[in-house]
Amino acid sequence: MSETTPHIPVLLDEVLEGLSPLPDQRLIDGTVGAGGHTEAILRAVAPNGQVLALDADPAALEVAHRRLTAYGDRVRFVNANFAQLAAVARDLDFIPVHGILLDLGLSSMQLNAVERGFSFQSEGPLDMRYDPNGPTTAADLVNNLAQNELADLIYRFGEERRSRAIARALVAARPVHTTRQLGEVVTRAVGGRRGDRLHPATRTFQALRIAVNDELEVLRRALPAATSILAPGGRLAVISFHSLEDRIVKEFFRQESRDCICPPDRPICTCGHRATLHIITPKPITATSTEAAFNPRARSAKLRVAEYMER
Ligand SMILES: C[S@@+](CC[C@H](N)C(=O)[O-])C[C@H]1O[C@@H](n2cnc3c(N)ncnc32)[C@H](O)[C@@H]1O
Repeated sequence: MSETTPHIPVLLDEVLEGLSPLPDQRLIDGTVGAGGHTEAILRAVAPNGQVLALDADPAALEVAHRRLTAYGDRVRFVNANFAQLAAVARDLDFIPVHGILLDLGLSSMQLNAVERGFSFQSEGPLDMRYDPNGPTTAADLVNNLAQNELADLIYRFGEERRSRAIARALVAARPVHTTRQLGEVVTRAVGGRRGDRLHPATRTFQALRIAVNDELEVLRRALPAATSILAPGGRLAVISFHSLEDRIVKEFFRQESRDCICPPDRPICTCGHRATLHIITPKPITATSTEAAFNPRARSAKLRVAEYMER
């Protein structure tokens, strides 16, 4: 995978402040990518603290591994989906942990690796899997879904108002094999650039990537799993890049910070739910204008942090 375009970690200072790692603590980075956040955490937990670093993409793990060799066995790498984070940590006897980071989505390395098929700027295969052994590629979806299923997918996961026209154009253009072909078909269907600065195919690409990697469902499963292995006072930090992800994190934090989640019209509590999280960031943290100018990826980043409560 291309290393000429290194991934710049977003909201690095804010993540460190949110996780507040201390010397000798144990943390998990569920999305190690190029290892930028992991390295900062390893420094903060020196001399003996450890990080368990996961990524679904073996190519990302290789890059991170090379970057972090100096930290020796203070960092362990596992090729796994973060939906399995609690099971992996238990298997390695790496529990409880003082912090967990999820920096969602894809890295600049993946975006720029033409052969991974994440970008409409270049001629790559229509793939978009983080895990190259994953069951479904973007080409499978584009070429096999019924037109209305494709339209629904683009609408739900891309929040794309023109989803019906796009799905119609894609079905007419089948078979669609490359990212550039997909980008061109979508651009023709929605008619060139819009006023909102986004490339016309941005939302369709986001939708396909989310569907290929089952991103929203994986996040829904990972949040309670992560909470289950935090030590009291341990922190969970999640960086999201679009509103669908951020809403899931916000609602999970809100629900888990309440003692009762009965419907408001119920006169007495019957749910027995007990709060396990204290929300550290009532509003998501976003990038400063300096960071956003320097790293365009940071412009849409939202960081939310919650702390596991001692009961
Ligand atoms: C935004 S990058 C992380 C960048 C990293 N924080 C850094 O500083 O370099 C997201 C990474 O998460 C990985 N990823 C996405 N979804 C995943 C999942 N469900 N399980 C494990 N890794 C995932 C991607 O392969 C990618 O390498």
